[in-house]
Amino acid sequence: MSPDVTRRALLRSIGVAGGAGVMFESMRALGLVASPEALATPAYQPPATGDLTVAKRGKKVVILGAGIAGLVTAYELGKAGYDCTILEANDRVGGRNWTVRGGTTMTDLDANTQTAKFAHGQYLNAGPARLPQSHITLDYCRELGVPVETFINQNANALLYNEQSGVAAQQYRTAKADFYGYISELLAKAVDHGSLDQSLSGEDKDRLLTFLSGFGAIGDRADGFAYTGTSRRGYSVEPGAAEQAGVVLGPPPSLSTVLASQVGRYFSFEFGYDQAMTMLQPVGGMDAIPMALYRAIGRHKVRLGAAVTKVTDLAHGVEVVYKDARGKEVLVRADFCVAALPPHVMARIPTNLDAGVTAALRYPTATPSGKIGLEYRRRWWEQDDRIYGGITETDLDLAHIWYPSYGFHGERGVVVGYYNTGANATAYGSLSHVERTKRAVAQGVKIHGKKYSDELVSSFSVAWQRVRHIEGAWVSWPSRTSGEYALLNKPAGRVYFAGDWLSYFIAWQAGAIDSARYVVTNIHQRVMAER
Ligand code: ALA
Repeated sequence: MSPDVTRRALLRSIGVAGGAGVMFESMRALGLVASPEALATPAYQPPATGDLTVAKRGKKVVILGAGIAGLVTAYELGKAGYDCTILEANDRVGGRNWTVRGGTTMTDLDANTQTAKFAHGQYLNAGPARLPQSHITLDYCRELGVPVETFINQNANALLYNEQSGVAAQQYRTAKADFYGYISELLAKAVDHGSLDQSLSGEDKDRLLTFLSGFGAIGDRADGFAYTGTSRRGYSVEPGAAEQAGVVLGPPPSLSTVLASQVGRYFSFEFGYDQAMTMLQPVGGMDAIPMALYRAIGRHKVRLGAAVTKVTDLAHGVEVVYKDARGKEVLVRADFCVAALPPHVMARIPTNLDAGVTAALRYPTATPSGKIGLEYRRRWWEQDDRIYGGITETDLDLAHIWYPSYGFHGERGVVVGYYNTGANATAYGSLSHVERTKRAVAQGVKIHGKKYSDELVSSFSVAWQRVRHIEGAWVSWPSRTSGEYALLNKPAGRVYFAGDWLSYFIAWQAGAIDSARYVVTNIHQRVMAER
């Protein structure tokens, strides 16, 4: 008997004896359904005031960077009475968690300044913009009272467009109906012809055919399992009242044409653990998270415009020198330092740390990435195209077009006109903002037509590799086992490192949060163990 059959028999008898509730718990114990514990981060104990003797309370921690990792470090350490000071080189908190609204100004590394002209209520989440259900970020939203709403990551009415295939843009629903239909037809024929008899029992074959019938909406055996298209593809004339039965869009193109369109390569995105619906976003902009942390920590704990110029690790403490907004040098002494900066930025700050540490900081590679927010005077994607949120996927240099998951039926809306990485991000990043807009709009017109240009009222773009004090969207590790990653996950004397780059959730706020908690736990344990 195979282990599966044994388990099945066991569960059946448990179900008979104990009922559905007992059976569900047994399945959980066997690892057949996810347990709530498995969905959460391994038990984290926030430091608490009672943990420390009076003498140890008020230990000073200087934190470099008011991104999510730095803010969470201060927030969590603050729970036990640590005295944290955050030094932030930019003039705002949040780091890459940055929401651009009307009036937001940015001067980049090339001394180009942009000021957003978005109407009241319109915004662009220039950095993180979607939260998976499993991420700890949502626990912080709950704890901090940050309301969340649905972020639409998949939309059957959003489009797929491959310029190279020469096929016109089509809705996800149509592309999926055709791909799933033809794949089901092929597989059903192969099964029925006995081509897979080595892998399938007679019972397996029947069950697979039943599945394929529903999955692909194909004909039955008498019809040769043919895929001929159904209303899943959509309608050329919508159904309506009385005699208006509607006209199904069709007939489907040939299998060969469907394969040639290549749009099927985008389907798997939504299978990703971190990208599957339901996804969420804070109401009113992603920066609600750093703003809530900022308030919870106490604004006086954060020094904005404070660019760190030197870090010295000493036997009994740390010294950090920064230049304030007026260029004056200020010295901060603390018991510990947490460097919550991008590694390539930290690597440039003079320190007395071991040369191996600096070399390790230089090891991960920064990824360029950019976004543009295109504000339209009319929500034509909703009004004309019935697209409410979601993403259009393309093979163009803009990569993705995001339709807003907020403000439905409002007057205006901000579409993300590109969100790209790598060479495309570098290419857009090297252009002026006006040129970026022109290029992105010219590309989008290929999909949505003239209104994509005609209805535009304003725009704002960010090239993360050109943002001061950040200089990259995220990093990648050429290897996590060559020593650097492990080295930086340990303190260098009294200097600790934190950030999404020190986690297995790179490019997610959850990574920054988990890394911050890891450092907080290590500092707290060290302090508790000190005589
Ligand atoms: N986490 C980033 C995203 O979802 C990379 O696009």
